Amino acid sequence: MSLATSSPLSTDSIRTCPINFNHWYGVALGKEVTDKPLSVTLWHQSIVLFRDRLGKVHALEDRCPHRHVKLSEGKVIGDRIACAYHGWQLDQTGRCISIPYLTEKQKLPNCKIRSYPVTELDGFIWVFPGDLDYLEQTKIEPMGIPEWEHLNYIGSVATIDCQGHFSFLIENLMDMYHGHLHDNYQAWASAKLEKLSADRDRVDAYYEAESYYKIDKIWSISQLFFPALRRLHPEPLTVSYYYPHWLSTLGNDFKIYCLFCPVSETQTRAYLIHFTSLNAFPNLHKSPLWVRRFFKDKLFNAAKKLLEGLIRQDVLMIEQEQQFYSNNPQQRSYEVNPTLGKVQALICQQAQNNLSNHNINYAE
Ligand code: FES
Ligand SMILES: [Fe+2]
Repeated sequence: MSLATSSPLSTDSIRTCPINFNHWYGVALGKEVTDKPLSVTLWHQSIVLFRDRLGKVHALEDRCPHRHVKLSEGKVIGDRIACAYHGWQLDQTGRCISIPYLTEKQKLPNCKIRSYPVTELDGFIWVFPGDLDYLEQTKIEPMGIPEWEHLNYIGSVATIDCQGHFSFLIENLMDMYHGHLHDNYQAWASAKLEKLSADRDRVDAYYEAESYYKIDKIWSISQLFFPALRRLHPEPLTVSYYYPHWLSTLGNDFKIYCLFCPVSETQTRAYLIHFTSLNAFPNLHKSPLWVRRFFKDKLFNAAKKLLEGLIRQDVLMIEQEQQFYSNNPQQRSYEVNPTLGKVQALICQQAQNNLSNHNINYAE
């Protein structure tokens, strides 16, 4: 996709703003990728993910070089992927290395599709869709989720699929005044923005808020399931836009990540990953590792229902924002939370970084 033709972006174009390709994007859960090819879309780019016989994940453009059908319809044979249509086989670099019906007199066509840098880290598959020279020079790495394997954290994951531009989702996540929407889920209350800071790749907003949960006794984890056990108390609530992803902490008890995989100007996929901390229980840390591992695995997804409820409410609002914008792009809106201005400026600045990179090297 060519990006070099657009004029400089302003915040007026925020709702159609492209992503900055020069980042690692979380495109799938590790367990979603098997030896059966999986198709994902990252900002208009169809990508096929598959595991080879050693379990290593590969990411190729989801397009057979022969007739341009989707490679994800095909199957994995050893280290190769074979197209469903005529069985052409491609290696992990995207080069065609076998055509089953090629005669002895014929030569393999010299064709190759794009392969993407891909890595599996902390439960997710991360793809870098940007400039390979930039990757080589900066050695930029995926954000990573250190709590994923850490035995002191109980994780839950939920997927967000919404028909809206990613700016609507990140603005939702950075504006903690929307606790109003989640009253019945008792997530947090009475947010008040105390401090805001921004630089070229992040925005941090510090709120004072009230949390319903206090995880200070081992049985208090049951608050996740029984609302009657919850008591409001003050806690700091921080939200950070580490472009292109998001991280929030509520007091010492909770940490939430949102990994963004924007699909198009009007569609966004993201993964919400919630962690309940067990750091308040030093005695627990004396138990054998297998016990801690057992409980971490047993309690995995304890907060999934809660997350899905919150997501349903958020997605409803975001999709209505998108629909109204699509029908009335000139209609201005009003904002009183200064965080959102900083978020919009960062989105535009990051997209601008892409536009100014004229000689993008995508090929290997
Ligand atoms: S279209 Fe893929 S092998 Fe023919
Ligand atoms: Fe929300």
